[in-house]
Amino acid sequence: MTTTQRIAVVTGGMGGLGEAICRRLADDGYAVMSMHSPENRQVGAWLEAQQLLGYHFTAVEVDVARFDSCAAAVESIHQQHGPVSVLVNNASITRDASFRKMTQQAWDTVLRTNLDSMFNMSKQVIEDMLSLGWGRIINISSVNSQRGAFGQANYAASKAGIHGFTKSMAIEFAGKHITVNTVSPGYLRTRMVEKVPPDVMQERILPEIPVGRLGEPAEVAELVAYLASERAAFITGANLSINGGQHMY
Ligand code: CAA
Repeated sequence: MTTTQRIAVVTGGMGGLGEAICRRLADDGYAVMSMHSPENRQVGAWLEAQQLLGYHFTAVEVDVARFDSCAAAVESIHQQHGPVSVLVNNASITRDASFRKMTQQAWDTVLRTNLDSMFNMSKQVIEDMLSLGWGRIINISSVNSQRGAFGQANYAASKAGIHGFTKSMAIEFAGKHITVNTVSPGYLRTRMVEKVPPDVMQERILPEIPVGRLGEPAEVAELVAYLASERAAFITGANLSINGGQHMY
């Protein structure tokens, strides 16, 4: 079965931010492929919950840290649905620890998942976008790539690497109607942020946010949808902050 709808692929599509992005892109008429990790045991329940809200997503399993897994996952999308127009590289993990306690495994797994995934996934869809003569790649980074964070040497390094990738890709594909941008959210109301110890959140993080609250995933999804739209054709190689004023530069 192939679809005449444009196809959008969202990695980490069942997490707090990914879910909001999937819904917002579906609202804009995309056929949305929500990619999830092999460890996710909630796929059926998540799809059912979305259906109750009127969203019919396709779930696709992938380990974004592995190139061959990304190749197989996108190949199954090609066969069942068609070429990909929009890729949102959203999947990421934290393994927070102060540097002296950070293990090599915590370094490797964060870099492979958060940064190698940019290459692993973009490589699978770029030929589709070239043959369509149109494409959007939106890479989700973090405020902590711009300012660093206590306990996040691995995460901040992985997220800072993303924008170098974005800029190079943007230059290479600007003449082909493919835009490539980075979105750098601040602290959002998601499960990832809920793992931050409550005292650290109350005493250190919230006081740094001038808007005085965590961001909502839907607020970031709105920006992603704009970048994915025809209207954003002149924005490429940008790193757009959406952090409640926590970091300005
Ligand atoms: N700034 C300065 N000092 C800090 C600090 C901070 N932000 N946080 C902790 N410390 C200090 C403590 O006060 C303590 O000091 P003393 O030894 O003098 O008492 C010391 O560091 C504790 O060090 P430990 O290595 O023992 O720390 P720990 O093992 O208890 O926990 C941590 C360290 C895991 C990093 C924990 O503080 C933590 O989880 N912090 C939150 C990190 C964070 O912001 N993560 C963001 C996750 S959300 C996300 O990543 C999404 C996004 O993109 C924004």
